[in-house]
Amino acid sequence: MELEDYITLHSDPEPDYLARINRHTHLRVLNPRMLSGHLQGRVLAMFSKMMQPSRILEIGTFTGYSALCLAEGLPAAGLLHTIEADDELEELILSNFDLSPYADRLRLHIGDACEVIPMLNDTFDLVFMDGDKREYREYLELVLPMLRKGGIILADNTLWDGKVLQSAGSKDPQTAAISAFNNRLTNDTRVEKVMLPLRDGLTLIRKL
Ligand SMILES: C[S@@+](CC[C@H](N)C(=O)[O-])C[C@H]1O[C@@H](n2cnc3c(N)ncnc32)[C@H](O)[C@@H]1O
Repeated sequence: MELEDYITLHSDPEPDYLARINRHTHLRVLNPRMLSGHLQGRVLAMFSKMMQPSRILEIGTFTGYSALCLAEGLPAAGLLHTIEADDELEELILSNFDLSPYADRLRLHIGDACEVIPMLNDTFDLVFMDGDKREYREYLELVLPMLRKGGIILADNTLWDGKVLQSAGSKDPQTAAISAFNNRLTNDTRVEKVMLPLRDGLTLIRKL
């Protein structure tokens, strides 16, 4: 914890509107731990600024925190599509987007990612995969043809609280799915990959 505080203190602060969304989500929304948070948020923003992607896709919006971090790297004519299955979050997400300077570059799609992705007629430079952990393999297959060569997918929660180390028999469906995703990815010759031990595990996947 001390080390985590030290790392956060020696990284940039969250913009004010993100601090507000972070605080509000923790006070008023169920399962606030799903939000990327200060440190991972700054990492997402930095990746996006390094890539300057003109098209970003996010799977799993929650309250909009990570979408707004990723939007920091968008050029003026750029666009970020984000997909959220829970329609009860729609109003909050849109009001959170309005707190930022990026609302006009964000497109929220309410629905199941596996149904929405094939309807997006676009090519992406950067994808943030953070929806249903049991669907990661499906997301990868849907998204890979829509990703430009050299494009990056960031897959979140790939350590799943360390449960990926459990022996095969004792795995719950989400742990089993994340493990299967990680194992399959290891041998996937269509992409380069590196797993970072950031927060709950963030895997960087680059299309060859
Ligand atoms: C971990 S949270 C996302 C957190 C957010 N990316 C952030 O970092 O602030 C995962 C979100 O994915 C949504 N979700 C789950 N299954 C989904 C699906 N099949 N399609 C789209 N969204 C889904 C959940 O409702 C939840 O809001």
